[in-house]
Amino acid sequence: MTHATHPFDALMDITARPPAVFVRGEGSFLWDDDGKRYLDFVQGWAVNCLGHSPPEIIEALTVQAKLLLTPSPAFYNTPSLKLAKALTDHSCFDRVFFTNSGAEANEGSIKLARKYGALHRHGAYEIITFDGGFHGRTLATMSASGKKAFEPLFEPKVSGFPKAKINDLESVKRLITAKTIAVMLEPIQGEAGVWPFTDQFLRDLRALTTEQGLLLIFDEIQTGMGRTGKLFHYEHTGIEPDIMTLGKGIGGGVPLAALLATEAASCFQHGDQGGTFNGNPLMCAVGLAVLERVAAPEFLKSAADAGLYLESELQRISARHGLGEVRGRGLLLALDLKHPIGASIVGQALGDGVLLNSPQPDALRFMPALNVSRDEIDAMIDCLDAILAKMGAARRVA
Ligand SMILES: Cc1ncc(COP(=O)(O)O)c(C=O)c1O
Repeated sequence: MTHATHPFDALMDITARPPAVFVRGEGSFLWDDDGKRYLDFVQGWAVNCLGHSPPEIIEALTVQAKLLLTPSPAFYNTPSLKLAKALTDHSCFDRVFFTNSGAEANEGSIKLARKYGALHRHGAYEIITFDGGFHGRTLATMSASGKKAFEPLFEPKVSGFPKAKINDLESVKRLITAKTIAVMLEPIQGEAGVWPFTDQFLRDLRALTTEQGLLLIFDEIQTGMGRTGKLFHYEHTGIEPDIMTLGKGIGGGVPLAALLATEAASCFQHGDQGGTFNGNPLMCAVGLAVLERVAAPEFLKSAADAGLYLESELQRISARHGLGEVRGRGLLLALDLKHPIGASIVGQALGDGVLLNSPQPDALRFMPALNVSRDEIDAMIDCLDAILAKMGAARRVA
């Protein structure tokens, strides 16, 4: 793994990466080009819901690649029709627009809300979003995000995204004006460190937005596709949003995302939205294979059970090492470390062959495959326990 064998400098240096170069994946494991094996609790950032290279995806890609890669988005193709129908059958939405990334799906949701405002609310265009929210890295989705580090970047931002506070309905009410058209949020703020909106807040917000004639947009790019133990997070709350975006898990490892809307909110007219690869059959065939597996009640039940087991094991570790709360739902969980030791733990775990993520200096986030086994959870917990014991001993000596 030297500079001679890997010309790292040919890639734009957009983030700090460890020097490992991954060459193969299977289930919960990845291998680098030195043959070292890693237990993966990152899974492409909550993407590989069925683990690395699952047979369903290999089969879907192989079959579809031999049939048709893309006919052009100006024509219908079978996998996109079937996947759109399956998504609407499994949700409260009536229409789907496929995209290639989560940010693009969210960008589409912003455009759809603005179009709705132009048609139905005298040109209202503001979308209330939340401090700490993350919606992607296009200019508009960075502007919609409430991530502090984004604030000084790429000025001027896209305007029209006033920020409310998580779980604070009054802060939403204060921002509503004649210019407001929608409220947009991640039901659990993932990048911010796994901070959930309460179910009660989401119900109150639905009542408020309905009363005010505003659209409610759920960004379920991280929480959707079984991640929280139900197919979509909104199902936990008993309410239905008007618009929802999906990404990450829907492709199970390939670039696929989607914008879903109710019939009433689906107001794009010809020319408003499109894209060369949107709804291409190769990716949609994969999405269909993933959805068929993930939407099965027994699969969702076992993912929810795995989440409860991981949560209880994290609570045990937390109590043992004097750490903080375990937050989140299903298999999107965070452990509050109480100290800024996240990066150090991630680095040590990498050395021990376990991939972890620290979205904030004082938190670890866990987003394994939805079919992660108890043995794999135990192996990760043992590794974390050993690292924390070593760090605790080091702190006591110091
Ligand atoms: C909640 C949420 N929205 C949007 C995005 C952006 O998705 P993508 O990276 O596919 O553009 C992410 C990615 O982490 C996300 O977690």
